[in-house]
Amino acid sequence: MTVIPSSAVAENKKIAVLPGDGIGKEVIPQAVKVIAATQAPVEFTYFDWGADRYLADGTTVPPDGFERLGRDFDAILVGAFGDPRVPSNIHAKEILLGMRFQMDLYANVRPVRLLDSSLCPLKGIEPKDVDFVVIRENTEDAYTGETSSITDGRVTPILITRRATERVVRYAFNLARRRKKQNKVTCVDKSNIIGAHRYFRDVFREIGQQEFPDLTLDYAYVDAFCQWQIRNPEWYDVVVGPNLVGDIISDNGATTAGGLGLAVGGNIGDDHAMFEPIHGSAPKHAGKDKANPLAAILAVQMMLDWLGQRHEDSRLAAAAKNVEDAVASLLSEGRTLTYDLIGEEQASRCSEVGAAVAARLTNHET
Ligand code: IPM
Ligand code: MN
Repeated sequence: MTVIPSSAVAENKKIAVLPGDGIGKEVIPQAVKVIAATQAPVEFTYFDWGADRYLADGTTVPPDGFERLGRDFDAILVGAFGDPRVPSNIHAKEILLGMRFQMDLYANVRPVRLLDSSLCPLKGIEPKDVDFVVIRENTEDAYTGETSSITDGRVTPILITRRATERVVRYAFNLARRRKKQNKVTCVDKSNIIGAHRYFRDVFREIGQQEFPDLTLDYAYVDAFCQWQIRNPEWYDVVVGPNLVGDIISDNGATTAGGLGLAVGGNIGDDHAMFEPIHGSAPKHAGKDKANPLAAILAVQMMLDWLGQRHEDSRLAAAAKNVEDAVASLLSEGRTLTYDLIGEEQASRCSEVGAAVAARLTNHET
């Protein structure tokens, strides 16, 4: 058993909070309210990176920005980036993709998990049927600078490297072992057409066969996978794919688990991690106290769980579990929820949903 020095236990974990733009600024305060209600040993520092700052002084990421996040904080909590006033959303790319690439957050972990049957638009589906995790490679593929810059009238093709592929598939295989569900990892790609994806699949097969003989290796092309993940979500356990494939199948999967209002992502590296709701800044809903804060709250749950495991701190792990239970009970009660889950007529406000989760946690404590 690992013994943690008492000084380490006593210290609060330091969280960098970047609410960002649009509804990010509304859902993050609710998530922070929920952490406070858990009494988890954490403290927050806020960063004003986002469209307003960019439009005011041209800064996307301050010169030592990522260095500071990595050096001074135990985890990062992000709201959303994106604003129609900023041409091509250049700030969002520099901040969000910059963080993923430069801090080497190579595995984007996006659980697709149905918390209550009422949230699934499909007939006869139970929570046990929708429970898989998409692991999205987070540093290359169609997202690298090379693909967006045109040289000599040509666009550089998709980048897939052995190093990035090996580490993300290992992450996926290790997760399948820890989950102990189907002991299966599905590689999703477009390797029938794209050579770079064929390479991704080859590396997946090689690492899987050599290092994880106890696991089942499974393969799917992304177009076919998009329909199977809707028709037969129960087939999947851990799913891994190149960056753009992971982007698409995680949103598509979210449809079966209550929609984007509940979908979260953990961007995990060896030394750092960032957690975010994956819904984006939704400018048309911003400023109305209307957006669903549960994805941000579940991002906090994932962050507390990751911190708890990493620091072997049972208080953080317990706080994560309590947040999960509070959200699940709110969903099954089905009353205090936002418009996306119960329609405009019955809808509660963003701040009311945050308060309802926090109240459940406070009651839990007493
Ligand atoms: C996501 C988003 C981002 C992505 C955008 C905003 C750059 O869609 O986090 O899934 O494509 O990665
Ligand atoms: Mn996306």
